[in-house]
Amino acid sequence: MYDKLRSLLFLLEPETAHHLTLYGLGVAQRSHFAHIIAKPPANLPTSVFGIPFPNPVGLAAGLDKNADHLDALATLGFGFIEVGTTTPRPQPGNDKPRMFRLPQHEAVINRLGFNNAGVDALVRNVQASGFRGVLGINIGKNKDTPNEKAVDDYLFCLERVYAHASYVTVNISSPNTQGLRDLQEEATLRRFVETLREAQERLGSQSGKRKPMLLKIAPDLSEAELDAIAEVLLQAGVDGVICTNTTIDRTAVAGSPHADQAGGLSGKPLFQRSTEVLRGMRQRLGAQVGIIGVGGILDGDNAADKMTAGANLVQIYSGMVYRGPHLIGECVEEIRRRQGDDTYAS
Ligand code: FNR
Repeated sequence: MYDKLRSLLFLLEPETAHHLTLYGLGVAQRSHFAHIIAKPPANLPTSVFGIPFPNPVGLAAGLDKNADHLDALATLGFGFIEVGTTTPRPQPGNDKPRMFRLPQHEAVINRLGFNNAGVDALVRNVQASGFRGVLGINIGKNKDTPNEKAVDDYLFCLERVYAHASYVTVNISSPNTQGLRDLQEEATLRRFVETLREAQERLGSQSGKRKPMLLKIAPDLSEAELDAIAEVLLQAGVDGVICTNTTIDRTAVAGSPHADQAGGLSGKPLFQRSTEVLRGMRQRLGAQVGIIGVGGILDGDNAADKMTAGANLVQIYSGMVYRGPHLIGECVEEIRRRQGDDTYAS
């Protein structure tokens, strides 16, 4: 069914198609027709970060930046949903067009630039929703906040979302906010992460409920940079890492329409590199740190391969555009099949 819908949606400009799809899903959910769109997968309980997940397949950040569509998205059967990236103040993002499909590669390029309604609006939406599942809230900085003050933006967001999130993701890997990825540099990252870790523990003891904090990293990092990040994560005692955000590398799509658009590339061409980064981080971090694998999951095998490479959980975004909600169940089933009666070693 999604194949037919996709042909129609692909006639529309990508951002228009995105809003229309979420609007339609909302209508279906409110009129109790959502089960027609996708049959939610059977449970595959997974425990990571001390959190029980009904299944290990989640929605990646960026699809629901303001948590406007939580109830509708919940009907699709994700094991968890990550909303955001949210910033302290609302901001419009980059000029349109800023999202492009590369259908022959099952890929997307976006340079949205953290368009969002601000963290207070996101929190209001979370409070107003009926969603009671596992919720990740992904935080970032405003475009006009200089990097020297970036940590203040993250602290501001962390404090506001803390009570409402199951876990918080610190996004320092979007290619669409100038200078953001410089926060991944070792000395900067160390100070930055230590400050956020202190705030996390303070908020945990004040509220009596400690929430895990994860760092989301880019795929465009050298081995030496990955070494440094792993060391900082281990020393600071960060709970988990999300591998990876979109890539600025265009090798896999060179010469194709839209390939030269600025922004982050996601979807199938990202699978190999994001999985290498994930595998490398698992080797560096050992079993103690939770890893969410994201990047180029277009079928069940891709999801199961991420788990084999060391992920505890996976997330999808571009795969939803190309394959539709059916992909969620396909991923859960392939992970279950490969898992057999054993759980993954990691
Ligand atoms: C994203 N992604 C993203 N990530 C993030 O941490 N914050 C964000 O706001 C966004 N926004 C966003 C918008 C769009 C249009 C896309 C396609 C992606 C990155 C996303 O969460 C994920 O890491 C990558 O897209 C790789 O996964 P897929 O898309 O290959 O499954």
